[in-house]
Amino acid sequence: MMKQSHNTSHQKRYGQYFSGNKVAELLSALLPSSRLYSSAIDPMVGVGDLLLPAIQKVQPNSNVVGVEIDAPIAEQCAQRLSSARIIKGDSFCSKQIIIPGGWDLVITNPPYVRYQLQKDEHSVIPSSAKIRHNLCKQISTMQHLSAPDKAFFLKLAQNYSGLSDMAVPSWLLCASLLSNKGVLAIVVPEAWLNREYAAPIRYMLLKCFDNIVVARDVGTCWFENALVRTCLVVAERSNTVTFNEGLKKNIYQIDLGANLVGATSLIENMYFEGHCNYAAIVELLLWKMNVSGNGYTAHSYDATSAFSDLISIAKYAKWTAQEERSAVTSNSVLPAELTKIIGSRNHPDYVSLSDLGITCGQGLRTGANDFFYMEIVSEESQFYIVRGKSWCKQLQSFSVKKNNIIKVVQNRSNVDGLVVVPAELGFGVLRISNEIRATDRASCSRKKFSEIRVLSDALTGYIGAGETYVDSRGRHFKEYSAVSPNEKKDDSGFTSYWYMLPSFTKRHLPDLCVTRINSMLMYGKEASNRKQEIDRQHYTIPNQRPKDKHCGKI
Ligand SMILES: C[S@@+](CC[C@H](N)C(=O)[O-])C[C@H]1O[C@@H](n2cnc3c(N)ncnc32)[C@H](O)[C@@H]1O
Repeated sequence: MMKQSHNTSHQKRYGQYFSGNKVAELLSALLPSSRLYSSAIDPMVGVGDLLLPAIQKVQPNSNVVGVEIDAPIAEQCAQRLSSARIIKGDSFCSKQIIIPGGWDLVITNPPYVRYQLQKDEHSVIPSSAKIRHNLCKQISTMQHLSAPDKAFFLKLAQNYSGLSDMAVPSWLLCASLLSNKGVLAIVVPEAWLNREYAAPIRYMLLKCFDNIVVARDVGTCWFENALVRTCLVVAERSNTVTFNEGLKKNIYQIDLGANLVGATSLIENMYFEGHCNYAAIVELLLWKMNVSGNGYTAHSYDATSAFSDLISIAKYAKWTAQEERSAVTSNSVLPAELTKIIGSRNHPDYVSLSDLGITCGQGLRTGANDFFYMEIVSEESQFYIVRGKSWCKQLQSFSVKKNNIIKVVQNRSNVDGLVVVPAELGFGVLRISNEIRATDRASCSRKKFSEIRVLSDALTGYIGAGETYVDSRGRHFKEYSAVSPNEKKDDSGFTSYWYMLPSFTKRHLPDLCVTRINSMLMYGKEASNRKQEIDRQHYTIPNQRPKDKHCGKI
């Protein structure tokens, strides 16, 4: 989302990607048009981009509040929004955001912060455990929530996945702050629609909200350098219903293309029923018609197909109420996009792989493949000889002890045929768990490394080179967001260094592996050659079944 001028690590740590005026105006246009709000809050207000246009929709002399954890940003916001009260603080702790009847409008763009980045001891952003604890405390003190609603929000807050980023507790805070009939307006990446960690949010939305409108940036153009689509979600708090009731609700989805964007608005070129720009979307929302226009489509989906994965996730999730689990009647359904193609003929009840007791997961993500993956060129009794890397000119090839390399299928082209034979694999991942460099002795934890084993000179040199190498974006491997969490400490020192991958789990060592085949964009002849090669690989069955017992199937 829109970049701030100050340094990127500060920006990432606070999740300071501000919405900008155009996204803010569009979100305001999606708010129910005939309504004036008696109170409004942005609990993660930044410099006030979202609150500024929303103030137009608030009754005079209403309670308008913004909360911002970063003092200079809060100061900037206060100067910009003189009619609002800007609180410098942490919204997961601030007592000032709990008001007797709940808020009429809660609008925000929550921070997408990975807690792993919060390693600085003086960081103002609390740890994930602290945020969960604070969120539960906030919910417990909310007088406007009925006892069952309070218990419902608490169950979600206590049980959302620890892998989620800060956006999940932020959603829960925002939703719980609303009065009955209050409106939630939120800027989110599309991940909230399909990531498993965001499933409790989809569940909560269906149970507690009506008139759910989702506007999607299908051209991925609303934010500079955005890698993911943005969604704007607007919904009205209603009486909490059962999950089965929630699944009967509709979601109105508007897909907005890049050609609609103009100099002053993201939908400057949108036309509907003689209306243009914001007036067009307001009119569309009045009718909620299924239409395709000039660069946009709008469609009402039933919740089961819009959130097709939710039923199977909710059936087993810790955050689902016990009675809801057994009451969920329907089974997994097809996603809306597929139903559109197949039509609405009667579908059989689908059985998911998890129903059959098969767990699926992504393979290993090292966070820095260029550092952790090694190409094995030959082997001796105790060692592999691995090829040097283009980023590490000083090591052409070097030897690594066999127990420091685990052979891997890095991609489809590593495998000939349909069965993986470890002995034939030419790639491995660097696995260091109980050895450290001699230079790390002073900083290591005495508890963890009671008997210190020192890495070979070659690996010490390789890690050292990896520490000084700077990539084209000016970053060191150890600073990559998925590598820096490898570093862990106890009170006597490091228990794990950046060059140590976490222990492998079952999903990293699967019985069956489906490799990705669409990892490159190719055109013309190159693409057709590659397709032929892939087809050949897919249908090649080895002449002889390998004898190796530890083979995996592709
Ligand atoms: C993604 S930005 C969005 C700001 C603004 N709502 C907008 O749309 O432009 C999130 C903001 O929340 C602030 N923030 C992060 N954690 C917070 C917390 N616990 N309490 C209050 N503000 C927080 C960040 O400093 C950042 O300015």
